[in-house]
Amino acid sequence: MRYAQCVIRAGFLRNPFQYGGVVGGAQFCNRRQELTDLRRAMENAEKLFVYSERRLGKTSLIKHALSKLPKREYATAYVDLWATDNESSFVTATAKAIAESMGRTTAQLLDTGKRLFSRLLPNVTLDDEGKPKISFSLKSDAAPRPEIEEVLEAPAKVADHTEKKVVVIFDEVQRILEYNGDQIERRLRSTIQTHTRVSYIFMGSRKHLVQEMFLNKSRPLYRAAGHYPLGPIDTREWLPFIQEKFAAGDKPIKEEIVRAICDLTQGHPFYTQHLCHALWELAEPGAEVRANLIELAVKVLLDRES
Ligand SMILES: Nc1ncnc2c1ncn2[C@@H]1O[C@H](COP(=O)(O)OP(=O)(O)OP(=O)(O)O)[C@@H](O)[C@H]1O
Ligand SMILES: [Mg+2]
Repeated sequence: MRYAQCVIRAGFLRNPFQYGGVVGGAQFCNRRQELTDLRRAMENAEKLFVYSERRLGKTSLIKHALSKLPKREYATAYVDLWATDNESSFVTATAKAIAESMGRTTAQLLDTGKRLFSRLLPNVTLDDEGKPKISFSLKSDAAPRPEIEEVLEAPAKVADHTEKKVVVIFDEVQRILEYNGDQIERRLRSTIQTHTRVSYIFMGSRKHLVQEMFLNKSRPLYRAAGHYPLGPIDTREWLPFIQEKFAAGDKPIKEEIVRAICDLTQGHPFYTQHLCHALWELAEPGAEVRANLIELAVKVLLDRES
């Protein structure tokens, strides 16, 4: 409590509940079982697809799992397919993530870019913080068949070259269904099965589309990966997470109130953080959070929505 009072006096206490973007560190409510399962899948070079409805915490979970891997043993590539809309943008987004998995200095990026992606044009620039970043473009407008081949072979080459385990994540994988043609799906199927030292994790938020990709017999990726539906976070996990944050702000909250919050949100991560955020704003420092504030917080949120 002394810590809380210092923080309040110093005047920099922010609302500790975040909703919207990816959460990590102290903002990440432990998903012990899921982290253990994903770690095992990565260790065993498994192919897995992880799916849930929107905002259930897939990206936060996978990024957390990646951050815990020992860097000396693993090379990891996180490919966000959200902004891709055709085979060419799939190729350049994937090449970028794989190149960055091999080291981030300008020399390393250029070296990897040239060595692994001879069919693409690399371009290294500095980001706002002055850190080098790489992007790729295609040499021609022709259908990128050989480029697809090259980019999908790259993870196995990284594994051979570095002797590390390689983990490749494709987030928002359902975007692939919107490309013209099914070349990516076909090539993915044949390559991932031969990559015995690479773990592939496919993540999707449009549950029915992801199921269509991996559980429909007529699709190329039918049963090419195990499946892992992601559920809400257990009240057991939320209890210490929420109570500690309120306590650190000198706004003590009883277990029964936290349970009432979790009942309302059914442990859905986004809604739980959103409701706690609103509740935090309403709660006064130095006073216990009362049950009637939950109703008020819900009303504030509903009013905003409408
Ligand atoms: N482990 C967690 N602990 C606490 N809050 C979480 C956790 N995971 C997710 N959240 C909450 O849910 C929100 C959405 O998380 P995230 O973006 O990881 O979900 P997602 O399933 O990838 O969403 P989308 O369907 O939009 O891709 C976060 O901003 C955060 O408020
Ligand atoms: Mg996401």
